[in-house]
Amino acid sequence: MTTRVLTGIKPSGVPHIGNFVGAIRPAVVASRTPGVESFFFLADLHSLINTQDPERVRRSTLEIAASWLAAGLEPDKVWFYRQSDIPEISELTWLLTCVAGKGILNRAHAYKAAVDKNTADHQDADAGITAGLFMYPVLMAADILIFNAHQVPVGRDQVQHIEMARDFGQRFNHVYGREFFTLPEAAIDEQVATLPGLDGRKMSKSYDNTIPLSASPAELKKLIFSILTDSRAPGEPKDTEGSPLFQLYQAFATPEETAAFAQAYADGIAWGDAKQQLFERVERDIAPLRERYEALVAKPAEIEAILRDGAQRLRAQYATPLLRELRDAVGLRDLSLAPSVAKQATAKAALPVFKQYREADGRFYFKLSDAQGNVLVQSQGFDSPRDAGQLVAALKNAEVADQLQSTEIELKVAADEVLAALASLREAAAQA
Ligand code: TRP
Repeated sequence: MTTRVLTGIKPSGVPHIGNFVGAIRPAVVASRTPGVESFFFLADLHSLINTQDPERVRRSTLEIAASWLAAGLEPDKVWFYRQSDIPEISELTWLLTCVAGKGILNRAHAYKAAVDKNTADHQDADAGITAGLFMYPVLMAADILIFNAHQVPVGRDQVQHIEMARDFGQRFNHVYGREFFTLPEAAIDEQVATLPGLDGRKMSKSYDNTIPLSASPAELKKLIFSILTDSRAPGEPKDTEGSPLFQLYQAFATPEETAAFAQAYADGIAWGDAKQQLFERVERDIAPLRERYEALVAKPAEIEAILRDGAQRLRAQYATPLLRELRDAVGLRDLSLAPSVAKQATAKAALPVFKQYREADGRFYFKLSDAQGNVLVQSQGFDSPRDAGQLVAALKNAEVADQLQSTEIELKVAADEVLAALASLREAAAQA
């Protein structure tokens, strides 16, 4: 079975090498695992909760998108998009808001921390807290549920949000009587490296101790030479334990390189030499990344096009059909059809249908049948539902017989009949 893995990245601030080592690089590697369908998106709607500086939102979205692409994310192999380009996410947020328990949101850590701080400062409990902060978990649930993600890799601080997404999804399923949503699981990676910053604390924007991904070689060198060390003289053995310099080295180096560096510590390497070695090792990994990053940031139109393309395809394949179903489920319906649900059902039944399914051989198939159940087109097996879905999407647009000449499908009736069936589907879609 394909596992859908979804990662949201809130664009805030300049990406640094800690983000790269701790989050970006491992996620890009994981996205290449066979049987995984990956979703990476820029949670720009979420960023509005943190900043009301429009230029900062724009700049940060661009820089974070460029970092992921520079790190090797392949937008034709994974879904890469921007949250605000999928209006169905906002629409789903409202549908979920109307089943979400307010009491659950009261208990969200981020909101509670803000209330606790106000209380400690003898302020009104909700002083300065926007409804956006309060609703954060509902928007996040919509991000996850809209694509029926199975797994969401997150840090410990986000686990509660995934549990809330499960809760809201389950409530919706229960109220509207069907398994509309898959319930997601948090995937916590204990391995994920947290990189120390220049002062030895965790590398983080909030401590102002980061090394930006885009630092020039000269800047990188200067920052690395500013790392805090103890006062041991050259020739004196140094401790690797608790040495941020060593930990940074380790995050980039192979086990062999790390062992050699540890030996140099034991042999009393001078701090200046150790810093030079660290600089050279980091620079080796970062140089190509920096080059790609700079090239990407210089062409924002290309990034814009990549993001829009991802969102457009995702909407067509998942979001738009799902929202159509959900709107109907909650009763946001075409008034001319109501209240006769039966009439709607017959209108649907008269149309040909694509059915996607999985066979005992573990492969993914689809067929197109007419209203009477006669098979018009039968596909061969595909490795992933996505491959099958892409061919279905292409067939839906097929208007001439030439477009039906794929070796992956078998026409069970004349091409003209298939084309007529496809045309009736398009017509129905246009009217919907
Ligand atoms: N809340 C996440 C963070 O601050 C970002 C995020 C938004 C997210 N939507 C998501 C993460 C959906 C995973 C899934 O890091």
